[in-house]
Formats: sequence, structure tokens, C-alpha cells
Amino acid sequence: MLLNAKNNPVNISTLSTKMIKKETIDKIFDAARVEEVIGDFVNLKRSGSNLKGYSPFNDEKSPSFMVSPSKQIWKDFSSGKGGNVVTFLMEQERMTYPEALRWLAKKYQIEIIESEQTDEERQRQTERESIILVLEFAKNWFKNQLYETEMGKSVGLQYFKGRGFREAVLKTFETGFSPEKRDALTKAALEKGYKMDFLLKSGLTVESNGRHLDRFRGRIIFPIQSLSGRVLGFGGRILNSQIKTAKYLNSPESEVYHKSKVLYGIYQAKQQIVKDDLCILVEGYTDVMAFHQAGLVNVVSSSGTALTVEQIQLIKRLTKNILVIFDGDRAGISAAIRGIDMILEQGLNVKVLLLPDGEDPDSFSKKVSTDELQDYVASHAQDFINFKASLLNTDAQKDPIKRGELVRDIIKSIAKIPNQIQQEIYVKEVARIMDMTEQVLFKELAVVQKNNQRQAEKEYVRKKQVAGLQPVPKEEVLKPASTKRDVLEREIVKLLLLFGARSIEVEDWDIREIPEDNSEPVLEKVIRQSTVAEEIYKNLQEDEMEFSNPVFKDLYQRLIQISLSKTPIDIPKLMTELDEAATQIVSHILMDEDKYELASWEKHHIPVKQKDANLGWHVMDVLLNLRLLWLKELINTNNEVLKDADQSTRIDFFNTLKEYLFLFRLVSVKLYRFA
Ligand code: CTP
Ligand code: MN
Repeated sequence: MLLNAKNNPVNISTLSTKMIKKETIDKIFDAARVEEVIGDFVNLKRSGSNLKGYSPFNDEKSPSFMVSPSKQIWKDFSSGKGGNVVTFLMEQERMTYPEALRWLAKKYQIEIIESEQTDEERQRQTERESIILVLEFAKNWFKNQLYETEMGKSVGLQYFKGRGFREAVLKTFETGFSPEKRDALTKAALEKGYKMDFLLKSGLTVESNGRHLDRFRGRIIFPIQSLSGRVLGFGGRILNSQIKTAKYLNSPESEVYHKSKVLYGIYQAKQQIVKDDLCILVEGYTDVMAFHQAGLVNVVSSSGTALTVEQIQLIKRLTKNILVIFDGDRAGISAAIRGIDMILEQGLNVKVLLLPDGEDPDSFSKKVSTDELQDYVASHAQDFINFKASLLNTDAQKDPIKRGELVRDIIKSIAKIPNQIQQEIYVKEVARIMDMTEQVLFKELAVVQKNNQRQAEKEYVRKKQVAGLQPVPKEEVLKPASTKRDVLEREIVKLLLLFGARSIEVEDWDIREIPEDNSEPVLEKVIRQSTVAEEIYKNLQEDEMEFSNPVFKDLYQRLIQISLSKTPIDIPKLMTELDEAATQIVSHILMDEDKYELASWEKHHIPVKQKDANLGWHVMDVLLNLRLLWLKELINTNNEVLKDADQSTRIDFFNTLKEYLFLFRLVSVKLYRFA
């Protein structure tokens, strides 16, 4: 009776932690048509062999969203996103991979067969599902109390109206009301067949002196929802500020509610956050609702807890830009400062907006018109440097000691940013604002970074030792993101994907003679018949190098297998075997196939030669460039090791290094001849 999923708005199956079987996944991919699924969300028109429509991710004037029925992929040229039918649902509806599969299974009426669970897994899952069910029941009960009971209407609704909240926004956030009664909710739930065990575990019921009481009594209720809209817990506010009790009461931590991982309003805000490519972060429940009502829909709140890394990562699934709005009081400012560094550290961009003293987003949004509010937000948002600088008043800014402290503080924030280009932009900004030379600031940044690095290394070694493991060499820990490698590795994947089995004629140079005197080796030009895959395989084998980017590495291994066996690549099948990141890459490559991405080569300082119609020529060009890069890195690493090595290992390293140096020379000569 209780598990009647049909009448329940929560789709229970999405809660499953079970694995969907491979055969089921294959069936889903066989049945699903990307054009049909996307057609549910986007109005598509035929355009040649493709379909075209307006991007669901951007407001655009001319359609740049393409779907290819033959390849079963899509690409949005306005945002650069693309993928297959599953990634579309993940992007558009913010589903997880299994959620998307289950959605498709439902649409195409495919029965989902799951792998067996252990008893413990099954029990945990039933428990989670049962808690979610009782929370869902409670949400509806609270709503019912608000709209259908005399108390609810005269006290609860009246309270909301008195604060200027209209019914539409209350409905959107599914707010409710809990009457001032001992155990009304608990009783109602038990009557409906919900078990006391789960009422207690969800935190809705509390035990006191052997009696079971409702946690929320005489409060208005804010359901706290997950990204996909499941109710995980509640916040409840007292109606009368005279009462001497905490203004807000929240659900306790439970199997489903972890306050550090949720953001109030994320379900209602997610689409708009993606569209605006911005997430506004405020402090409280009412702030979120007030902004939403005022037309600023892309807003969430960490609801009384200091911002956490998990919350930032949740936002990161939707956008890389956060605008932090805090009350203009002391507490608000220090909360903003703490938040900024965490956001920067997660690689996101952050701006800050301080409201006039004494205002919070809720009160402020009700004093001004919607237009004024939007103007205010747009014109008063400061980047974090200006924000920090503005905290020092003009007099203090003249004081050299205080100024020095401020600059150091800002540089410390900048040091947290993982992206170097972004760092440079900010350093230049500080130089401008604080009227200092960039050189001095870069030096300071280097000092801070060196310090951080030393800390990180120590921490790393300590952790490894605690775990009883050997620390890996330092280069592994602090490997810089090598984007030039990425570009070339991607090109290899692209060649395999598009032309793997194609026959080519390649020009190469065989070694005739290696002079003793270190002068150039004598080479002889040869012409070889080969396939793209063979040539790639042969060349990359030679240096025994690995791809540095794990996604490209995985794709390379899969594609080289298929290509060497001379079977054609079955793209839809391949896609089912790939994870999200790899699917993205494959579909981008397929959609961009005629673009020879010279621009990104140039950007990464890879010498670009005139595009040649000859495929063999291009294959060699990419391979030689990649090998050269790999060898250079190997030589650098070995050089470093050699410096610290003791006498006996020195010889070994020296010989290895010599080999690499030789190969490097050889490849350079080839590349030179070739050009
Ligand atoms: N909060 C809480 N417990 C409290 C006080 C606050 O969980 N005892 C959380 C709530 O999520 C609240 C947020 O912190 O929304 C911000 O607190 P505050 O600014 O005091 O409340 P407001 O959101 O302004 O609430 P209201 O406008 O209803 O007074
Ligand atoms: Mn408030």
C-alpha cells in the first residue's frame, strides 16, 4: 500500500544504487534516438542531413544547435557542448549517468535489469528509500496544513503574505506549515503505514522520555531538495520572533540529509544557473525565495552553514561563476571572505556583492523594483580583489604596513587559483588597483606558491606514511597541466577515430649511419605504405611513452585495438562503452571533423605548417611533434634525477638519458627535414 510508486511524485528508481546491467544499457542505446529525445526539449528543423534548433543552453538569435541522426550525436556550437543522447540529458536535465539511463528506459519501455546487490547494500538502499518516502509524505502533509487548515491559512499563509511572498513562489518552493501540536505529523504518518523507525531516522519524529513527538511544531516549513528535486530534509522557522527559541530549526543529519552537501534552492535554480552561466549565493531560505520572486532565479543558499567544498562542487556542475551576496554587517563580510578563497581554490570565478548595512537580500529585494534590483546587482558586484581592497578605507590604504598586509592577503588568494592564466590576469589587476609593478607581485606570488608547494609536499608525504605507502616522486604529485600535450594527444585520437584504417603513404627517414663525433645521424628517405593506425602505433611504441591525459589514453587504447584489426569503428557502440568525458571528446571530434584546428596549435606554440591535403603527411607531422614533446619531458625528468642520484645509479640514468637525447636529436632532425 505504502510503496505505491505511481501516486508518488518521487521516482523511486532514481534512488537506486544498484548497477544497471550491460545488456540493459546496450538495449537502451539501441532503442534511444537522439533526435527523438532532444525533440522533447528543443524544436528541431531539418537542415541537410542534420537537424537544427535553438540552443537550450543559451539565449541565441540564430540556431546553432545541431543534431546528427546518422551519427546519433549532438553539438551546441554556441556553448561548445556536445555528446550523445545520454550526455544531452545530463547537460539539459542535470541528471547523473544512471538517472539518464533510467529516464530513457522509461521512455522506450525497456525493462531495467540490475546486477545483484549484497544484503548490506540492499538493506541500506531500502532504508534510504523508506526515509525519502516518509520525507515526501511529510512535505505534502506540511503543504496541506498550510493551504487546507484554518490554522495554516490564518497563521502560516498570513505570515508569508505579511512578508510579501506571493503564492506562486510558495508553490515553487513547496513551502508548508507545521501546527503547534505535539505529534500531529507522526500520528498521520503512522496511520498511513509509515514505520516509526524511518520517522525517527528522517528526524521528523524525536523521542523524549519514551514519547514520540514531532520535531517541527508551530513553524513555517522550507523543504530542502536535492539537485533532482528529492526532498532530503526541512528547515522550519518560528512565526513569532518574541518566542525564546532558535529562529530556525533544521532536520538533523541522516542517511539522506547531509547539510554540507546541499544547497537550498538548487533544484529551482539549476536551469537558470546554466542559462545565465552564473550562480548567486545568498545566506538564507527567505533570501532565495525573495530573489526568485524578484526575477533573479539563479540563486541558492548554503542555509546557515559556512560554505563547503562539496557545495561549491555542486555548483560547479552547473557553472564556473559564483556571485556571493552577503549581508553588509561584520559577520556577513567575514563569511564572504572565507567563502572567496574556497571558491577560488575549486577553480571557479568569484564576485562579491555587499548590500547596504542592515539589509539582507530578502529585505533589500522588497524595497526596490525588480529592475532596480537587477541593476544594483549588476553594477555593485566586485571582483574579489576590489572587494578586499575596499575593506581597507582610504586612510589605511596609505599606511605602508597595512597596504603590504592587504597585498599579501590578496596574493595568497590568487595563489589558490589552479589556472595559471587566470592567476596572471588577476596579478595584473592587483598591480593596476594597488598601483604597484607586476614584477614585484609576481615575485610575491612565486614565494607564496613555493611555500604552499612545500606544505603540500609535506602533507603528501605524511599522508602516504600514515597509509604505510612509499611516496611517489615529487614530479608525480605536482605535475603541471600540460596543455600542449593535450592538444597533440587529442589529435592522435582524432586521427584514429576518423581515419584509423585508411591507407596512407608516408615519407620517413631510416638511419644509415650514426657518426661517432656526435654530428647529425645520416638518414635516408624512404616511402612507406601503411595505415594511419599502424603508423601511429609504430611511432608511439618506439619511445614507450604513455599518454598523459587519462581520457585520451583510454580512447587511444580502445581505438588502436579496433583500427589495427581493420574493423570499422561502430561509433554508437563505442559511445556506450565510454564515460562522460570521453563521450564529449568523441562527439566534438566527429562534429568538428572538417576543421583542422590550427588555432589551438598556434596557441600552444606548436609550429604549424601549411595544411597539406596529404593525410600521411599530417599523421607524421602530429607524431613527430608529440614524440618530440614526450622526449623533452623525459629528458628533463632524467636530468633532475641525475642531479640527486648516487654514484652507482648515476651510470644507469646517464645511459638512459643518452638514449633519450639521441632519440630527441633524431626526431628533431626528422621534423626538420620533413618541414
Ligand atoms: N539559520 C539556521 N538556524 C538558525 C539561524 C539561521 O539554520 N538558528 C540559517 C537559515 O537557513 C537562515 C540562514 O541561516 O535562512 C540565515 O540566517 P538569518 O539571516 O538569521 O535568517 P534569514 O534568512 O534572514 O531569515 P528571516 O528573514 O526569516 O529572519
Ligand atoms: Mn532575512
